[in-house]
Amino acid sequence: MSEDLFNDASWLIASIMRGLMTFPDDIPGVQDVLTRIAEQDLSADNFTPPQPQRLPGCRHLPEAVTAGVIVSMDLCHAIATIEDQLHWTHGGSYSKGVLDEMGFNENAAYAEIIGTTGFFKGDDFRMGLMLIGPGLHYNDHYHAAPELYWLLTGPIEYSRGQGPFKQVGTASTLWNAPNEVHAMKVGERPLLAVWAWTNDVNQLPVLLSA
Ligand SMILES: [Fe+2]
Repeated sequence: MSEDLFNDASWLIASIMRGLMTFPDDIPGVQDVLTRIAEQDLSADNFTPPQPQRLPGCRHLPEAVTAGVIVSMDLCHAIATIEDQLHWTHGGSYSKGVLDEMGFNENAAYAEIIGTTGFFKGDDFRMGLMLIGPGLHYNDHYHAAPELYWLLTGPIEYSRGQGPFKQVGTASTLWNAPNEVHAMKVGERPLLAVWAWTNDVNQLPVLLSA
């Protein structure tokens, strides 16, 4: 085991926890995520270095990480330190054709921190980073897992239940109930967000339309 990498991964998770702890207790989902993180086995015995993998969309990382410093310098420093050790994927279960249509193949990337391809195997829990390039529209989708987003950059436009898009600012959180349909439009700046699925994590997301 690489002790440096274990320490960097632990620092990354601690930075996320510190950031989430700054939100008031009544912000939906934040305490749920903190509770679930606290329940995970984050010991050295449960640490497995990911197989590093980059995607074309990772080119948006430097701009997003720099912009995110205003939300959490601590966390963005931790991300910059470790991002080349992460296993970046396209996430979800979508076909290449759908991803191409949405522009996601070339401009988006997800990485787990806790989860199957992360540093620690999750116990019915996943948490990671989401990076979506400027101008992209992530169409209506839903999944069984309750989901928290913490936006390190923004603003974005967000829709729930196929309703109208509303602006959501940098540093905001978004909480999606199980199977609640949601969609987002990224603005001029790449979106970098922490995401977490707090349970029922093995049911993949379903896209309503391409
Ligand atoms: Fe989602």
